[in-house]
Amino acid sequence: MDKSLREFLRELEEKGLENDARATERPRMMLNLEPASAQLISILVRASGVTRAVEIGTSNAYSTIWLAWSLAPAGGKIVSIDRNPDKHALARENLRRANFMDRVELRTGDAAEIVRQLEGPFDLVFLDADRRNFPEQIQILLPKLSWKALVIADNVLSHPEEIGEYLKLISSLPDFQHTIVPVGKGLSIAYRG
Ligand SMILES: C[S@@+](CC[C@H](N)C(=O)[O-])C[C@H]1O[C@@H](n2cnc3c(N)ncnc32)[C@H](O)[C@@H]1O
Repeated sequence: MDKSLREFLRELEEKGLENDARATERPRMMLNLEPASAQLISILVRASGVTRAVEIGTSNAYSTIWLAWSLAPAGGKIVSIDRNPDKHALARENLRRANFMDRVELRTGDAAEIVRQLEGPFDLVFLDADRRNFPEQIQILLPKLSWKALVIADNVLSHPEEIGEYLKLISSLPDFQHTIVPVGKGLSIAYRG
């Protein structure tokens, strides 16, 4: 990663933390992925060569920029969904600054409604939004996955109750390997391939 992108991501990390310490309402929080989790996801994406990603929960595009950079060598693209139009305005500005607008399609609206409209196939799903709805979202996405697919969800350790149903579902899927990695807020990583 070049120095200017690394510095931009650091700037977003710092601003995100400062913002979230001040913000009183959740819609105004950035709630960015922990840097160590972003690094692990990036390594998996680059090592596996996946190219068609869907992200649920864009926020200000911190994780989207990590994904875009990780998918770029393989020519990959991302659809990133958020229901908050203010967050998508910020995301658009940050993606422009990082020069990744050509790799990312931002779709604003409720995740379940939008994933229903998406065609696929996708070989990477990153779930980082409303955890209680992850089961519904992944059920809609499962038929739209390519055979080889990576499915990652955040906040396993920080919100075990909210994510419990999803973990039951994803760990019971035949053909998928599944593990939980205690990095950042806890990542659920499932892989079929
Ligand atoms: C934890 S933040 C995403 C952080 C981002 N992935 C990052 O690391 O920079 C969760 C985001 O999901 C969005 N969100 C929550 N529920 C949603 C839903 N049902 N549909 C679409 N977006 C949703 C929120 O507006 C919020 O911006």
